[in-house]
Amino acid sequence: MANASGFLTQSMRISSSFGLNPSGFCYPEVIPKRVRCSSTSQAVETESRLPRLVSKGCKLVGCGSAVPQLQVSNDDLAKIVDTNDEWISARTGIRNRRILTGNESLTGLAAEASLKALEMAQVEPDDVDLILLCTSTPEDLFGGAPQIQKALGCKGNPLAFDITAACSGFVLGLVSASCYIRGGGFKNVLVIGADSLSRYVDWTDRGTCILFGDAAGAVLVQACDSEEDGLFGFDLHSDGDGNRHLNAGIKENESNHELGTNGSALGFPPNSSSFSCIKMNGTEVFRFAVSVVPQTIEASLAKAGLDRSDIDWLLLHQANKRIIDGVATRLEVPKERVISNLANYGNTSAASIPLALDEAVRSGKVKQGQTIATAGFGAGLTWGSAILRWG
Ligand code: ACO
Repeated sequence: MANASGFLTQSMRISSSFGLNPSGFCYPEVIPKRVRCSSTSQAVETESRLPRLVSKGCKLVGCGSAVPQLQVSNDDLAKIVDTNDEWISARTGIRNRRILTGNESLTGLAAEASLKALEMAQVEPDDVDLILLCTSTPEDLFGGAPQIQKALGCKGNPLAFDITAACSGFVLGLVSASCYIRGGGFKNVLVIGADSLSRYVDWTDRGTCILFGDAAGAVLVQACDSEEDGLFGFDLHSDGDGNRHLNAGIKENESNHELGTNGSALGFPPNSSSFSCIKMNGTEVFRFAVSVVPQTIEASLAKAGLDRSDIDWLLLHQANKRIIDGVATRLEVPKERVISNLANYGNTSAASIPLALDEAVRSGKVKQGQTIATAGFGAGLTWGSAILRWG
């Protein structure tokens, strides 16, 4: 039986026996009875997901991406802050970035990337049963994923919600998708990485405004048999203590006089809040990245039972060329096997991995069946990696 929240009750847990697949995930050997997952008194009979629990693997079957029209070069930035193309290129590897303007929206970019991923996967929007929007910059405080579900026109109200883990968001989204597929019976999970950090950049701070750009990327993760499983191992971490090195904290704005007076009567000030611009100690974040990323990839490889030499492609969060080169050197991955499009887009946070993956797949660089080691790192602090197969 399931309770009102849709969780399995004790009796169901006891009556189901569980096995372990090669990736270390549990799956039931006995398929439990149909469960109604609803907290409303007028529960709607929906198709049970539980028979799909026989799916023990998941694979990446489609990708897509979208970027804003406006391109901003290093020379353009040199007109607004004291910097130059030579410094930015040498210290970061970035030459251009795209910035959302005019009628463009992050939701629009995310929907465009998603449609491309669905087209490649040959999956209809109606067949998507979960949408995970990995973003730190949603266009609604309460989350942006349902608006993407609406834009895609998915019938049947598939679950859609946001995951916030900064530049690690997409890796966390991929792992979450695999858990929903393996443990929850979901079949087609759309994982979107989309961010518009340009909205939170201090455009007078040359230490940060040169780094970021806006973009969206998406991947369709699909249930499959265990023999076809394409997520071999993963490793995820966070360190709240490191938040002091990279954050965009909440800011209480002064309330207007009338509201302030009312608030005082109630014993609290009804302030309106917003988020401050990105504050970063670049040197500390740099040190953190070159130290934890090789470690997490080694940990994922060990969990997958694979070796560095099994990596066909190294695909890291696109933050800084020196970080990418440093990690590749530590892992002894030759530069021809490193995917990078940082020069064109800068650091697009949760979008950077699916954006680079999409370009690499569509250009024919990454081929069906190849093994990719991917890792994200950033604010939180958060970091994590996954070893996966494309296709
Ligand atoms: N143009 C010219 N000079 C600059 C600029 C600029 N844009 N920015 C800084 N400088 C100057 C500094 O003022 C300093 O001058 P000084 O020596 O006279 O004091 C000098 O250049 C060196 O500055 P550093 O900050 O030490 O430069 P560094 O080599 O560390 O590069 C950078 C800075 C590019 C930010 C680097 O530290 C970095 O990439 N860090 C990692 C950032 C990152 O990866 N973030 C990922 C997470 S993002 C997220 O999660 C949202």
